[in-house]
Amino acid sequence: SIVQQGLIERYREWLPITPDGPVISLGEGSTPLVHAPTLSEAVDGDVWIKVEGANPTGSFKDRGMTVAVSVAAAEGAKAVVCASTGNTSASAAAYAVRAGMTPVVLLPAGKIAKGKLAQSIVYGAKIVQIDGNFDDCLLVARKLEEHYPIALVNSVNPNRIEGQKTGSFEIIDALGDAPDVHLLPVGNAGNITAYWKGYKEYFEAGKATRKPKMWGFQAAGAAPLVLGHPVSEPETIATAIRIGNPASAEFAIAARDESGGLINSVTDEEILAAQALLASQEGIFVEPASASGVAGLLKLKAAGQVPSGLRFAITVTGNGLKDIDTALLGRDIETEIVSADVYQVAAACGLN
Ligand code: F0G
Repeated sequence: SIVQQGLIERYREWLPITPDGPVISLGEGSTPLVHAPTLSEAVDGDVWIKVEGANPTGSFKDRGMTVAVSVAAAEGAKAVVCASTGNTSASAAAYAVRAGMTPVVLLPAGKIAKGKLAQSIVYGAKIVQIDGNFDDCLLVARKLEEHYPIALVNSVNPNRIEGQKTGSFEIIDALGDAPDVHLLPVGNAGNITAYWKGYKEYFEAGKATRKPKMWGFQAAGAAPLVLGHPVSEPETIATAIRIGNPASAEFAIAARDESGGLINSVTDEEILAAQALLASQEGIFVEPASASGVAGLLKLKAAGQVPSGLRFAITVTGNGLKDIDTALLGRDIETEIVSADVYQVAAACGLN
């Protein structure tokens, strides 16, 4: 077929989708797995980047949302709700309107990157900005689901995890086996839970000969899983992972321990440096939170904790265009205006 199939069509037998139920899809998944030569050389290994910003709404959330909204549609839901730092809300809004449902999104006021806010507005979500952080929003979202006729599509909904586990399937399908290590950012801890589930399922089905170690990275100012306790006032420039009390904490710890992996933290400076490196060296522009896995790999390599000769898969979770305010922070844009003359333009860009 020339039409790109969504992940429910491609992985149907692995997903909780009834044979004749509705499939709400925007052609998600099948994202690029891109070899990263600069990073490979930096760590003396083989680094592959899973570019989830290539999904229909620009983040990995679409993998979970196609399944969660399809199941909600089969159950007759008329509205969905989520708490979000911005990407879940963008994805929920798109898939809900596609299904003819009303999306309601609860956002921490003033802490959402503008591109993500624009998505929720233009898709047509009912937006409620809350005086509180993501953790506060999630508490309210859970209570809304409990008391009102509305389906919760945060990653505490197991159908979200089911959809997101297909990221692991695609990596194994592409590389022929699991990598030695899988790295990714950790916020509410749904995605590390999902990837680990996917790796385990493919391994148990004989589609991989091994399971990777799971290395998760939180922002230093929002690192409850590193500290071992919730953080009441999480703070980081990577607003996507500005979360102090991850709902799937228990599963993230299990992923870490069962895989022999780790959960560590990276500073905002390390995150921004990794974002810049990914864009300027590998040609991959991601939002700040998405660079955490790369930041973590470089940090651990510098600390002498990364052996040579390993294969790494790193999920970069969201598109750089989601948060251009942060991307442009402290960067000079050339303000000189040059006339439309070939010699002057050549001089302006240093050609001679
Ligand atoms: N990266 C990005 C770009 C995200 O948006 C998120 C989470 C994560 C990483 C962390 O994933 O929560 O599964 O551990 N964003 C959620 C949201 C919280 O509301 O969009 P996680």
